[in-house]
Amino acid sequence: MWRLALTADASDAEAYAQAVEPLATVVSIYEVAPEPHHGVSGQPDEWATDILMSGLCVVEALFEVPPVTDELTEALAETAAGLRQALPPIAWDEVSEDTDWVTQSQGFHPAIRAGRVLVRPSHIAQAPPAPHVVRLDAGRAFGTGGHATTHGCLVLMQRLGLGAKPRRIADIGTGSGLLAIAAGKLYAQAHLVASEIDPLALEVAAYNARANGVRMQCVVANGWRHRALAHGEPFDLILANLLYRPLLRFSRQMAERLAPGGALILAGLLSGQERPLLQRFRSYGLVLEARAGDKDWPSLLLRRPAGGSRRFQAFPSSPSENAR
Ligand SMILES: C[S@@+](CC[C@H](N)C(=O)[O-])C[C@H]1O[C@@H](n2cnc3c(N)ncnc32)[C@H](O)[C@@H]1O
Repeated sequence: MWRLALTADASDAEAYAQAVEPLATVVSIYEVAPEPHHGVSGQPDEWATDILMSGLCVVEALFEVPPVTDELTEALAETAAGLRQALPPIAWDEVSEDTDWVTQSQGFHPAIRAGRVLVRPSHIAQAPPAPHVVRLDAGRAFGTGGHATTHGCLVLMQRLGLGAKPRRIADIGTGSGLLAIAAGKLYAQAHLVASEIDPLALEVAAYNARANGVRMQCVVANGWRHRALAHGEPFDLILANLLYRPLLRFSRQMAERLAPGGALILAGLLSGQERPLLQRFRSYGLVLEARAGDKDWPSLLLRRPAGGSRRFQAFPSSPSENAR
């Protein structure tokens, strides 16, 4: 396999990724770990800030067959011209077929602090105490806390209001399980359902949950297509860090399965997609309560007003649509 890598400003990385995507087998964007900040003690103070951002991202693309480099360079050069900048240096190398791509691209992520939650990988030897520590290493699943979407969701799940005690929580597209595990630590009494379309990622999530002493029901499901999600009591908190299209596709089920007064935390949309997504959820009676994340990747906290009805006359649901 062949790998291309280039470093760009975080705001430009998506454009470069899109330029190579049609030609590559896999494309990943990940943050460059920043230089540790040195606190007054002179010791590296990695966890002092809420989220450690260098402002730079690496775009990596993997190719199963030797790519036509001219075609790729041309696509990247066009993107650079569109961004009115010089083409960043491109690195090429050959990688082993056995390379674990997701693990490698998430390797050695820093400790991440989001409010009362600290996400601590095992290679960080020392970290100050935090009310809730999630131990989590890079694995074959998305979610180390370093991406603005995951971080935004972690922040928003701590803004549910004083004394909030969600009893039932669903995490759709759980990846590494980080959001569900953090929710389990913050709301220890809750019943947790974590779903994933990728069975390998779900294995990682189940492992991480056990390692953190959090009990959660792990289900392989495409969206809401599982009885643990589609049936039974509604959820007081739903987490969904997906992409814009699946968020839209599952919008009605998410709104319907939210208890009155319940909160829905969404991420994975780009800032330009926020308006149409909000319009959709407003049409189901939900209201925007808070926003987190960064300017490119907003995370949204929506609420079903306590007095509202879960059943929408305008969009009646058919049980067969939800059932597995
Ligand atoms: C952006 S990652 C989010 C992971 C984690 N929840 C986080 O916040 O860091 C999205 C995850 O959703 C999963 N996914 C994508 N489409 C899905 C679908 N239709 N149903 C369930 N999971 C899905 C992906 O496999 C991936 O692990």
